[in-house]
Amino acid sequence: MLLAHNYMRDEVQEIADITGDSLALSIEAARTSADVIVFCGVHFMAESAAILSPNKLVLLPRPDAGCPMADMVTAEALEELKAHHPGVPVVTYVNSSAAVKAHSDICCTSANAMKVVKSLQENELIFVPDRNLGRWIARFVPEKKFIFWEGFCPTHERMTLDAVLKKKSEHPEAMFVCHPESLPEVSALADHVCSTSGMYDWCRETHTGKFIIGTEAGILYKLRAENPEKEFILASPALICPNMKLTSLEDILFSLETMTPAVSVPEEIRLKAKQALDRMLAVPRD
Ligand code: 13P
Ligand code: SF4
Repeated sequence: MLLAHNYMRDEVQEIADITGDSLALSIEAARTSADVIVFCGVHFMAESAAILSPNKLVLLPRPDAGCPMADMVTAEALEELKAHHPGVPVVTYVNSSAAVKAHSDICCTSANAMKVVKSLQENELIFVPDRNLGRWIARFVPEKKFIFWEGFCPTHERMTLDAVLKKKSEHPEAMFVCHPESLPEVSALADHVCSTSGMYDWCRETHTGKFIIGTEAGILYKLRAENPEKEFILASPALICPNMKLTSLEDILFSLETMTPAVSVPEEIRLKAKQALDRMLAVPRD
C-alpha cells in the first residue's frame, strides 16, 4: 500500500494508492490489510503508521525527510512543562515524535483539533507543538484555557502578510483559503481556514472560479486536476516544504526493491504513543 501526503511531488501523488491529509493517512494506516506500507511523507507520519500497525512493515523512502516543527519539542522539555501544570491534559499535534506522543494524553491533526479539544472534560490544556494551530483553535473554544508551545511550521510561517495582501490586490475576486499552521495575521485574512483535505472539499463546493491557496504547493496538483474549470494561485512562492519534496520515484523504487528503510518505534514508547493516537481516532468525526 503506497500512501502519499497531499504535499508530495505530483508524480508521487500520481502513483499513490491513497493520497490524503495526516488524519486520513493515519486512519488508512490503521485499517489497511496490506503487509507493507510505503509512506511517502515525512518521518512523523511513517512513525504514526508504525505505532498504529506494529505488525506491518512501514517504509519511509527518504529517512531524512523530517519535520522541523516536530523537532521543536522533546519528551524531556514537555515533561518539564507538565511538571509546572500537574493534571493538565496534553493535546499533541501529530506533527511530533513518537516519544512526545508517548508523553501526551491525546493527539490531533489540523482536521480534527477542534473536536479533540472540545472532547476533553478539563477546562485547561497544554497544546504542543504548533502555536499557530493552537491559537487558531483557541479562538473557537473560549471556555478553555490553552497553554501553548511556541513551535511552528517554517514553511507556513514564510507566507507573510505582505505576500498575501499583494496576491489579494492582484486578484481581488479570488477567495483566500489557508492552513491553520499559518501566521495568525494571515489566517485572520482568510475566507476559510482548514486542513489540506478540507481545502479540496471547500474549493470544490465553493462557487467561485479563483482561489488563492495558503498552504504547501503540493496541494495544487489535485486541486487543479479535480477542478479544471477553476484557477488556483499559490499565496507565496515560499510555500515549499523542502522535506516534503525529497521523495522521488527512484527513492520509492529503491524502497520497493530492497524493502528498506523501515521505520519502527521501541515497544514501550509505541504502546504509550498508541494510546494518544487511539484516543484521537475515537473522537467522533461528525
Ligand atoms: P494536514 O495534512 O493534516 O493538513 O497537515 C499539514 C502538514 O503540515 C503536514 O505536515
Ligand atoms: Fe513540517 Fe511544515 Fe513541512 Fe508539514 S509543511 S512537514 S509541518 S515543515
